[in-house]
Amino acid sequence: MHMGSARVSSGCKKSKKYVQSRLQIGKKRNEVIKCSKCEMTYSPSVINDINAHKVYHDMHLKGRKWSNSWGLEVNSFANDNCYVLTPPSSSSSKGVDGGFFDDRIVMIRPDFAGEVKAAMELLDIVNDELNAPHDENDFWSQNRGQGKAFVYIKNKRAVGVITMEVLDSDRGRWMVYNTKSIIEHVRPNFLVGISRIWVCRTERCAGVATRLLEVARDNTIYGKTIEKWEVAWSQPTESGGKLASKYNGRKHKSGKLLLPCYI
Ligand SMILES: CC(C)(COP(=O)(O)OP(=O)(O)OC[C@H]1O[C@@H](n2cnc3c(N)ncnc32)[C@H](O)[C@@H]1OP(=O)(O)O)[C@@H](O)C(=O)NCCC(=O)NCCS
Ligand SMILES: [Zn+2]
Repeated sequence: MHMGSARVSSGCKKSKKYVQSRLQIGKKRNEVIKCSKCEMTYSPSVINDINAHKVYHDMHLKGRKWSNSWGLEVNSFANDNCYVLTPPSSSSSKGVDGGFFDDRIVMIRPDFAGEVKAAMELLDIVNDELNAPHDENDFWSQNRGQGKAFVYIKNKRAVGVITMEVLDSDRGRWMVYNTKSIIEHVRPNFLVGISRIWVCRTERCAGVATRLLEVARDNTIYGKTIEKWEVAWSQPTESGGKLASKYNGRKHKSGKLLLPCYI
């Protein structure tokens, strides 16, 4: 079996319908299929593979089940957005979309082993999808770490996550959006970097990542709101690049769109 390694871009404007594709390798009894929804390749005749696929599939599409006691609830205080998740006291508990006000964002506390483990498992899914290293967690999972992890909870599932790290001053770079090339001769100073950001497939294009970014800016450094222009991206993917260009890309006088990145 093979966990989804291909990066599939799901444009926000595209239809969300999926088609089951079948990739047959070898003889029928060794048949391997690739699930077009979660991108995992597995053998439908091997019971362990079927079970592994079910777990992986649900996590990718719907997120990870999340206990109410995991994480410390946090909000965004920034005044230039409408991403405060707590409803005004006069409103009903249901948002227009039938659930928005029940959504919560929590910060992972390094001292609480249960929530750290759950967040690690969520990030395993993310790293599989991004083909990214699985060992870049110390900055949010350890007490002396210079960063934080935030998880977006909807209907008792973790449907999104962001990990944000405080950067040393020499790591900032500008990336030209169209060509993905790095501008080598300038060293912009960015305060924090987004190590990972991910939203499960069924919840994409509904503003979840943007809300995670807003909350992370307000809660990564105690008592300080990090400005949008102080946030950098790490090797943005196709969808990450689109999010970055909308969120804090900057137009250069040459007309090119630059993304704040870090190495
Ligand atoms: C990138 C990702 C986190 C975006 O999450 P999201 O919750 O869908 O993002 P948002 O809904 O907050 O998007 C905000 C804006 O970013 C842009 N955007 C985000 N994803 C986009 C996409 N796939 N295509 C086009 N525009 C996109 C849009 O302008 C969008 O605003 P709009 O819908 O009003 O036009 C999500 O697609 C994902 O998890 N991808 C897989 C993991 C990954 O690649 N992470 C990035 C690592 S750098
Ligand atoms: Zn699947």
